[in-house]
Amino acid sequence: MSYKNILSATQNGVTTITINRPSKLNALNKETIEELHEAFKSAEGDNNTKVIIITGSGEKAFVAGADISEFANFSIENGGKLAAKGQELLFDFVENLSTPVIAAINGFALGGGLELAMASHFRIASTNAKMGLPEVSLGVIPGYGGTQRLPQLVGKGRAMEMVMTAGMIDANQALNYGLVNHVVELEELLPLCEKMASKIQRNSSVAIGKAIKAINANYKDGVDGFEIEIEEFGACFGTKDFKEGTTAFLEKRKADFPGA
Ligand code: COA
Repeated sequence: MSYKNILSATQNGVTTITINRPSKLNALNKETIEELHEAFKSAEGDNNTKVIIITGSGEKAFVAGADISEFANFSIENGGKLAAKGQELLFDFVENLSTPVIAAINGFALGGGLELAMASHFRIASTNAKMGLPEVSLGVIPGYGGTQRLPQLVGKGRAMEMVMTAGMIDANQALNYGLVNHVVELEELLPLCEKMASKIQRNSSVAIGKAIKAINANYKDGVDGFEIEIEEFGACFGTKDFKEGTTAFLEKRKADFPGA
């Protein structure tokens, strides 16, 4: 499928989705969000995709936020719908995929950009990356899950400070906060993400999908994560991957998981 605002390519089990509006610092307009939804959905349904990497094109930005020019004249109702639709199509959608999603933060990750990175399963940044939720400087608040996911990742006090000051933190500060897992030079960013992806691919994709579900359950209101873990743990025993994983261990060979 061809897209106008993004690129998607699959190689060696990894689908790399690149947001490609460099002249607008990859800002997320409605069309880009819809295309991203389609690209993530198609990667999730593709047996050849074991890991998804999301990044931005160019050397300056991952994503500089939601496209401000699109919502500047919105009403209360339109504003609410913008957040609800975006969360449904992209941010919650990405978080709940069973295929692992790594955000490769290659520059500015602001507002919706940081929110997209935070909805991904984990984040790796290049040294030039700058992250922040500047929404209150525009008279609005983060609407794509930022008020919920930032405190989950960095703690309430740091999230409060970042949101209230609308300031940016650099990659090392983000590492120090636990917002990103690793920081590398820009030219090392995709190679490191691909290396991680190849490590992940050696394991059972079915078990990984269940682990994502169980970990996410910890952050869902009204859901008992321990119960979900028990359910998903039990369900693993009915999978071909479990049979192969345990058999390979006992036969002292490397597992060749069927992914079922
Ligand atoms: N929405 C729409 N357009 C955006 C954008 C956004 N979130 N972020 C950047 N752009 C556009 C700029 O308007 C500019 O377009 P133009 O050349 O047609 O005027 C282009 O991208 C380049 O940005 P520019 O501001 O000139 O780059 P810079 O290096 O001077 O500054 C930033 C970089 C990231 C500091 C600055 O672009 C910025 O503050 N962006 C908005 C960040 C934000 O508030 N995001 C949260 C939105 S809720």
